[in-house]
Amino acid sequence: MAEIIDTRTEPERAIERACAVLAEGEPVAIPTETVYGLAADATNPDAISRIYEMKGRPRFNPLISHVSDMAMAEAHVTFDSLSRRLAEAFWPGPLTLILPQRTTSTVHALASAGLDTLGIRMPDGFSRRVIARFGRPLAAPSANTSGKISPTSAAHVEADLGPRLKLILDAGSAEIGLESTIIKVEDGALRLLRPGGLDVFEIERLTGLTVSRPQSAGATIEAPGMLASHYAPGAAVRLDAADVRPGEALIRFGNASLPGEEHAAIVLDLSPAGSLREAAANLFDYMKRADASGSATIAFGPIPSEGLGEAILDRLQRAAAPRD
Ligand code: TXA
Ligand code: MG
Repeated sequence: MAEIIDTRTEPERAIERACAVLAEGEPVAIPTETVYGLAADATNPDAISRIYEMKGRPRFNPLISHVSDMAMAEAHVTFDSLSRRLAEAFWPGPLTLILPQRTTSTVHALASAGLDTLGIRMPDGFSRRVIARFGRPLAAPSANTSGKISPTSAAHVEADLGPRLKLILDAGSAEIGLESTIIKVEDGALRLLRPGGLDVFEIERLTGLTVSRPQSAGATIEAPGMLASHYAPGAAVRLDAADVRPGEALIRFGNASLPGEEHAAIVLDLSPAGSLREAAANLFDYMKRADASGSATIAFGPIPSEGLGEAILDRLQRAAAPRD
């Protein structure tokens, strides 16, 4: 079983152990502000292979390289002026930029799945301290079995990958709870490859530009992680429910009761106060809890589509998509 170190009580030991395990070429589960990541040395092909193995992830799916500062980022990618502005405004934070990889970059082609671009992000939270000490970028997808719900706590990681992992750093619940927003700049235009923890409106407000959305969810393999069926709980998912059928688990928003909810197996409210930020932080944990209730179906009440609601609904549509 994985060793678990609490970063709030033993920060120094957590960093030292993490760097030692990473140096052996083994993945470590690290807390970022978005979700827990399964991190490995992005310059070491064996270490990256272990990530793919542990997750059972298709190899064509590129990973995000996580850096601790701009100097580390500049060593691996080139910034156009617009991307630089975004990095300066939103890093460290829940934003991933797709940028041309430098020919001198030591990030291994296995991490970028052979593309000539790199997904790069400076995370906030404890993970950044680990990267700074390690001194090299860490490739890190979410620390869950491929296709399953992303982990927002060390307990989530342990329940899923615990037996296969050496080390989990526990920093408590992830503050944001949704993966990063992925943006690609092309010819001075901003393209959204994945909605996430940074509200797209913030990007539009900063730049004065409109961010273009993908044609339809899952239609593009441009961010190849964007497979239609993803974030799947064990139970079936029914969206925008107008009522609750007997035995269903209900996840609702904003204290909005639904007819029939007295017959639900469990009722969870993502944010009784109606905060999308709070709802994002609770989403994956509540999906896991609803799943654990044993209901065959999780019904979701209506959730607003503006702001972070866009990313929340994106994840729910993937959770509800037909599975193969
Ligand atoms: O918040 C997050 O982004 C979390 C934490 C751990 O940082 N990481 C995460 O990684 O969500 P992952 O591997 O689950 O998702 C990475 C996404 C995938 O959809 C992948 O296709 C896309 O980033 N991606 C990575 N590199 C890319 C590239 N060069 N071009 C296009 N998409 C890329
Ligand atoms: Mg993931």
